[in-house]
Amino acid sequence: MSGGLSFIHRFEPGTDAAAPPLLLLHGTGGNEDDLLPIGRMIAPRSSLLSPRGKVLEGGMPRFFRRLTEGVFDEEDVRRRALELSDFVAEARAAYGIAAPFALGYSNGANIAAAVLPLRPDVLAGAILLRAMVPLSDAPQANLRGKPVLIMSGATDPIIPAAKAARLASMLKQAGAAVEHRTLPVGHELSQADISFARAWLEKNQALAKAS
Ligand code: MLT
Repeated sequence: MSGGLSFIHRFEPGTDAAAPPLLLLHGTGGNEDDLLPIGRMIAPRSSLLSPRGKVLEGGMPRFFRRLTEGVFDEEDVRRRALELSDFVAEARAAYGIAAPFALGYSNGANIAAAVLPLRPDVLAGAILLRAMVPLSDAPQANLRGKPVLIMSGATDPIIPAAKAARLASMLKQAGAAVEHRTLPVGHELSQADISFARAWLEKNQALAKAS
């Protein structure tokens, strides 16, 4: 589905208008279908908006270009993060939804981590699964109180622990309410990611409503 919007995407309406929508951002080689089941498990009543990354690496969709594994084309990261932000604005108008929480995995978590400082108003919060620092010189942004959950894998061969920790501290410095958990797993997702993210979202959704 694209419905005239600027990214090929899927949209599944939610059943509770008060539940924050999720922006689902797949990993390298994924597509707009990948995270729908996990999104539904984490946020059963939310609308789900799931774009397909526009960059192709050997035929595999991604959200930005990389030079090699773990080395990003930062100019492209910026450009693509802004392009994705514009898509979120279009989709919000088209579907009548509130600012979403990102739920990103791997490359999708990294583009969400770039959107946060570049366009702080686009995301209500973020769940970043296996993320690392996407920009070495991100702008100073005010992310005060924005809830961000980072879930890392202790034996992840793709995301160095130090780069995940640095992302957590950069977001904290910008004022975000960051929770960083490391699970005894690798790069792949586990049931524990889903259970923890679901509980975290319920809590942070409730806090957002109470404030
Ligand atoms: C990235 O390129 O964003 C990260 O290295 C994770 C991935 O392999 O997609």
